[in-house]
Amino acid sequence: MAKLIIKDLWVQVEGQDILKGVDLTLSDHETLALLGPNGHGKSTLLGTIMGHPKYIVTEGSMTLDGTNLLTMAPDERARAGLFLGMQNPSEVPGVVNSDFLKAAMNTRRVQPLAMFEFYRALDKATKVMKIPLELAHRPLNEGFSGGEKKRNEILQLLLLEPSIALLDEIDSGLDIDALSMVGHAIATLQQKGVGFLVISHYARLYDLVTPNRVAVMIDGKIVVTGGQEIIQKIDRTGYDWIRAEYGISIEKVTPTMNTTSLGVCATKEKTRL
Ligand SMILES: Nc1ncnc2c1ncn2[C@@H]1O[C@H](COP(=O)(O)OP(=O)(O)O)[C@@H](O)[C@H]1O
Ligand SMILES: [Mg+2]
Repeated sequence: MAKLIIKDLWVQVEGQDILKGVDLTLSDHETLALLGPNGHGKSTLLGTIMGHPKYIVTEGSMTLDGTNLLTMAPDERARAGLFLGMQNPSEVPGVVNSDFLKAAMNTRRVQPLAMFEFYRALDKATKVMKIPLELAHRPLNEGFSGGEKKRNEILQLLLLEPSIALLDEIDSGLDIDALSMVGHAIATLQQKGVGFLVISHYARLYDLVTPNRVAVMIDGKIVVTGGQEIIQKIDRTGYDWIRAEYGISIEKVTPTMNTTSLGVCATKEKTRL
């Protein structure tokens, strides 16, 4: 049993409040979809859960099975069973992908993996993700295409089998076949009981991973929660209805935010007009 509980979480980046009182719970055997317009704090929430030093928690609490995460280093959080599939995975020249994977797997074990055990697991997972073995032996993410980076994040997920996985726009940059592979890999882990927090702008990913709860983040707060009908509504019409139904302005003023506040999927409809 793994249970992540976040209460009234306030987070600053560069002295600016980005998360403004987030309440959220997530257990294993659950999949939570997190949607929201660009620049409203979704990646900040995931980075904060993993303990990225750029995110400064100024208020609130965050526990995993009752243990305070806020005092734990990122590697301790990973050992406790959390995993982050990043929106923009970093390139790490000089660190071979397979060495990185083996080291990551070993940190969660008392006895290091025997070489043949590791290669058996690697062989199986690379086949599932249709990742050429050659990619496993190149420096981590260096020169990988966008889609290869995302598939490599899922390769890590398959090998590490965390209790709770946070996936940040894992579908961006994937072609249809790769999207379906990623969807199947997630579904396999869902059946094993892994809990997921999945950020995506696209209903087609959520068709594959079937969340049981949906939350929408606007201006650093979860403002709407519910079921899959919310995804359909956002896919059809974007986020404007939130303003109308909940009296919330989504025109957050930040220097880096896109001028349009629409969900990416809604642009499908809008561009047809
Ligand atoms: N280093 C930084 N300095 C200042 N603002 C930042 C920095 N990093 C992120 N932000 C701001 O934090 C806000 C939330 O970003 P993010 O969590 O990436 O949003 P989302 O994932 O919802 O698109 C954005 O307005 C972004 O510009
Ligand atoms: Mg993001």
